[in-house]
Amino acid sequence: MSSWDNLLEGKVAVVTGASRGLGRADALALAEAGADVVITDILMESDEESSSKAKEYGAIAQVMQSTKVIYSEKTSEEIRDMGRRSVAMKMDVTDVDEVNDVFKKIYEDFGRIDILVNNAGTVDHVSKIEKQNDDLWERDLKVNLTGSYNCTKAVWPYMKEQEYGRIINMASIVGVNGGFGQASYSATKGGLLSFSKSMALEGAKHGINVNAIVPGIIGTEAFKMGNKKMNDRMIERTAFKQPGEPDDIANAITFLVSDKAKYITGVGLNVTGGIDLFTF
Ligand SMILES: NC(=O)c1ccc[n+]([C@@H]2O[C@H](COP(=O)([O-])OP(=O)(O)OC[C@H]3O[C@@H](n4cnc5c(N)ncnc54)[C@H](O)[C@@H]3O)[C@@H](O)[C@H]2O)c1
Repeated sequence: MSSWDNLLEGKVAVVTGASRGLGRADALALAEAGADVVITDILMESDEESSSKAKEYGAIAQVMQSTKVIYSEKTSEEIRDMGRRSVAMKMDVTDVDEVNDVFKKIYEDFGRIDILVNNAGTVDHVSKIEKQNDDLWERDLKVNLTGSYNCTKAVWPYMKEQEYGRIINMASIVGVNGGFGQASYSATKGGLLSFSKSMALEGAKHGINVNAIVPGIIGTEAFKMGNKKMNDRMIERTAFKQPGEPDDIANAITFLVSDKAKYITGVGLNVTGGIDLFTF
């Protein structure tokens, strides 16, 4: 029986979209549980190209870039301070060549890749279908859904070779219940749930478990930037009357990628504070 201490000792994890928010919290939690962790994101503090990348990726990315809410290299440093190995690498999940190169480099440098958290995502607009911007529709599909597919496909041969892997896809309660004004976002998050199930079926005989996390509303920097009235209405709909904390997601992920969850695959684990429960 493995111990709950150092649950992920000896494991190598890669987190996408880890410059802030849930990705950063996930990376720190995995490291705290003993894993070496590679931070990846389009935004790096020291990268001069980050501002043009931010422009390309929309409103939230631009605000985060201009207000310096980018902690990719900082998070990596914090992980090294815990005594784990860590690097921060620039990786756009939509760029297939870059994704393949980065995973190859990680595998060569770290010797294995045990855990992939497909966290990178875009959630920066709400609009009814008549007003849905076509470019943002395409971007959401490219980042949230195809990005997770690109990273899964890139890491798959290494996990298959090792006969061991744990993949987490970041879905959303909106992907289960739908979301008013969230056509593109909900379609990508619903897609990730069925993608996770298909990959779970394919991965089982190779020791690869694939699960999804279904967050409700979590108080990340990005969430706090949203419309306050809308946020308050959503908070009111949770059973706890408060948003979740990034660690609530990170702790669920740490469990799901550990061997304590070795018989769990193909699930979407709700971490929603009961926002989805029927109430009147
Ligand atoms: N916060 C919530 O309430 C909530 C709820 C449900 C689901 N989620 C999901 O959790 C994930 C993280 O949410 P968050 O609140 O931390 O959001 P966030 O916007 O703060 O973080 C997203 C991260 O992804 C990165 N990113 C964007 N496009 C990228 C690309 N092409 N390649 C690589 N990285 C890219 C960003 O730079 C950022 O670091 C997202 O997938 C989001 O949809 C969040």
